[in-house]
Amino acid sequence: MKKRVAAFCSHGGSNFAAIAEAAARGEIPIELVVMIHNNARAGACQKAKRRGIASEWVPRKRFSDEDEYAAHLLGVLDRYEVDIVALAGFMQRIPPLVVERFEHRMTNIHPALLPLFGGQGFYGSRVHQAVFDAGMKVSGPTVHLVDDQYDHGPILMQRAVPIDDCRSPEEIAERVLVEEHELYPRALGLLAAGRFCIEGGRARLIE
Ligand code: GAR
Repeated sequence: MKKRVAAFCSHGGSNFAAIAEAAARGEIPIELVVMIHNNARAGACQKAKRRGIASEWVPRKRFSDEDEYAAHLLGVLDRYEVDIVALAGFMQRIPPLVVERFEHRMTNIHPALLPLFGGQGFYGSRVHQAVFDAGMKVSGPTVHLVDDQYDHGPILMQRAVPIDDCRSPEEIAERVLVEEHELYPRALGLLAAGRFCIEGGRARLIE
């Protein structure tokens, strides 16, 4: 049985598109039922429209407090009967109430090898700038389950990408993004198929 997935996006939505394409090709047992975003100009909106996937605009500033924001998000997720939430470039903290409801059913992709270069303030180009400044020889995406801390929670999959010949943070970003598009659908597919076992804060792939 396919799992019903909601993607959360803020910008371009290239990871969202990669997931949608893998699902449409039948490679992973998921159906993307809604794309939730907080930015009416996000490229992800066009990508959703083109693929016939519903989108919902839920800007944080529309709600007077976090409880109201959480209740609205949970309402949308219930309405679409969502099983799994996939954060795909979503640059807004998810309220703890929502995280709790989706414990072990909410994923995030981060463009560096966590726990390095993660946490509050590390997102998008800032991550690659920090990796570049540190003179790292490898970087790469991490897909993890979301818990109550930024860029934290059991790691599902990572991929090391050599970057020793990269001359700028942009070059690193480009190289890592290509791998994100391959890794995220794969990790999500395995999660949907029930192939991860979570023990002691660690995720183990069941062979
Ligand atoms: C991706 O590189 C993703 O890893 C990163 O934002 C980009 C979104 O691109 N996420 C974070 O930095 C979260 N901390 P996309 O909108 O094209 O998928």
